[in-house]
Amino acid sequence: MRKVLIDTDPGIDDAAAIAILLNEPSLNVELISCVAGNVGIEHTTNNALRLLNFLQKNIPVAKGAATPLLRENRFATNAHGASGMGSFDFPEAKTALLTEENAVLKQWQILQATEEPVTIIALGPLTNVALLLQTFPEIRSKVQEIILMGGSTARGNIGVYGEFNVMIDPEAAKIVFRSGVPITMVGLDIGRKARLLAENLDALETHPVGKMVADLFRSYDGGDISEGVKMYDPSAALYLLNPELFQTQPAFVDVEISSPLTLGATVVDFDGVFEQADNATICVDVDVEAFRQKYLERVLAIREEVANGTRSSK
Ligand code: BDR
Ligand code: CA
Repeated sequence: MRKVLIDTDPGIDDAAAIAILLNEPSLNVELISCVAGNVGIEHTTNNALRLLNFLQKNIPVAKGAATPLLRENRFATNAHGASGMGSFDFPEAKTALLTEENAVLKQWQILQATEEPVTIIALGPLTNVALLLQTFPEIRSKVQEIILMGGSTARGNIGVYGEFNVMIDPEAAKIVFRSGVPITMVGLDIGRKARLLAENLDALETHPVGKMVADLFRSYDGGDISEGVKMYDPSAALYLLNPELFQTQPAFVDVEISSPLTLGATVVDFDGVFEQADNATICVDVDVEAFRQKYLERVLAIREEVANGTRSSK
């Protein structure tokens, strides 16, 4: 069993990623920690608790950072809706799962109590993860890998070169990339390539969790659905579950935190221009057809009975 901590800002594509992560028997997901990102911290935490009620999973949920380290919040309600979960009508939040401890403290407690290496999969701004690594530096050796959805080897989505999760808290991202912990970056360019087509969403409809995913993505303003839905956070999840679908390359990565033109850019140095040691593994390509098949397979493999209160406002 691989021990995993999920750090997230649900978020439509976060929910689509979490659903398949929680159904993988070889993973032991010990915590879902929430961070402000797509929407505010109350919403992201509430959304995680509602999703867990829907999926009937008892994973502790910790509330994390309410703002980026140095910057103002800037939400993505345009893409994810006012609540962050589009128009899907989830059951009420399973508040009993909310931990008393803040996300960083809870992550630390889990890490320091284990002898086994732990993987952190980060699907939102990296504020909690940076705070963890800075507050408890001795814990870095317990983290086997940080798999993060964030950054880009090409252009951005909220900046010319800035990807949302990195650009919202670029200082946090810089801390994480400089931490010395092994990092795998599943960037924007992968999610843009790995798209679910309208016909794939149709194929999910017959299954209650698939219907949740399809409904969420249909209300997700991530582009024209006829061109396919960009699978950002699910790409990071599938990298963890099926790394054979991806091609990777090592690189040195740093984050631009001062230039107004390129704030939040992940500068991915494949060629040793900066003469720095590689600090990340970069996903550079994905087998799109195999990705689609595997994602559908994983959603459709979730036991149908787990879907609690399968209501949709559509
Ligand atoms: C990332 O930004 C968020 O809106 C998505 O949930 C994803 O994590 C893509 O840039
Ligand atoms: Ca996210």
